[in-house]
Amino acid sequence: MTDKRLSGRVAVVTGAGGGLGRSHALELARHGAHVVVNDVVDPGQVVKEIVTLGGSATASHDGVDSWDGGAAIIATAVDTYGRIDIVVNNAGVLRDKSFGKLESDMVRDVMAVHLDGAFHVSKAAWPHLVKQGSGRIVMTSSGSGLYGNIGQANYGAAKMGLVGLMRVLALEGARSGIQVNAIAPLARSQMTEGVLPEEILERLSPEWVSPLVAWLASDECVDSGHIYSVAGGYYARVAVVEGPGIRFDHVPTLDELAEAHERLVAVEPFTEPKSLSDQVSLTAKRR
Ligand SMILES: NC(=O)c1ccc[n+]([C@@H]2O[C@H](COP(=O)([O-])OP(=O)(O)OC[C@H]3O[C@@H](n4cnc5c(N)ncnc54)[C@H](O)[C@@H]3O)[C@@H](O)[C@H]2O)c1
Repeated sequence: MTDKRLSGRVAVVTGAGGGLGRSHALELARHGAHVVVNDVVDPGQVVKEIVTLGGSATASHDGVDSWDGGAAIIATAVDTYGRIDIVVNNAGVLRDKSFGKLESDMVRDVMAVHLDGAFHVSKAAWPHLVKQGSGRIVMTSSGSGLYGNIGQANYGAAKMGLVGLMRVLALEGARSGIQVNAIAPLARSQMTEGVLPEEILERLSPEWVSPLVAWLASDECVDSGHIYSVAGGYYARVAVVEGPGIRFDHVPTLDELAEAHERLVAVEPFTEPKSLSDQVSLTAKRR
């Protein structure tokens, strides 16, 4: 634990009892952060690992799936270390089913941990971050939401919801020095065991993902509002873009839209709006 660029920073990693969260917690601690290792299942083991390696960590057993849980997780950071600087919203569960067979409790459970969980924990941290004029939040999205995946309507919707939350918090946090980004990782964990093929999983240890999380949590990182695809040594920014579009000076008929189909679906050359007001200007220009 020699590179101390996060020295003095206090980080919360939710769902850090294993998998990606454990790896993020270890990486943040390696860079000198005090880490609150949160999980409803056995965060103590990861705390022990960090302390054995000479790092600083404390356990939080609260669930992210309630406002009280979120408040308690951030209170653990503030009560133990006097501040909160970094929130990594990582906790997750799966309740996969094809949409026709999906039941309401499967939607509720997944939303409660992934999307509501990020609200609960980030909202509890927010006043501290605003007051100190700095902070870093990392959301954990997924290709399942960004691109779609059969059998994961609940999970995909929650994961794309996190992108919306991230974009708004990036805009609202900018004036307070708060930067908010999202990752869409792929990694071997209890979540992907048996879901992704073995030949893919063997190249996907969670350790590949965590340096990006530590980078996004660091002062040197100036990015906000970004999404990164990250897996096994691959790191790429993902963007939401608009194509060049088509312009009509009258309300088009369906035949006119059908005729323009090729240009309607084209995305190049694209523009990347950074906010709703960018989108408004873009559409105004097109008239
Ligand atoms: N592994 C991948 O390839 C992959 C891909 C895309 C996204 N993700 C996301 O990365 C995150 C970590 O996943 P992972 O693969 O390490 O899986 P994982 O199952 O090992 O980790 C998730 C952790 O969250 C904990 N958790 C569940 N409910 C909780 C709650 N209410 N409060 C606190 N903790 C809770 C679990 O106990 C578990 O330890 C998840 O958000 C997942 O959706 C993973």
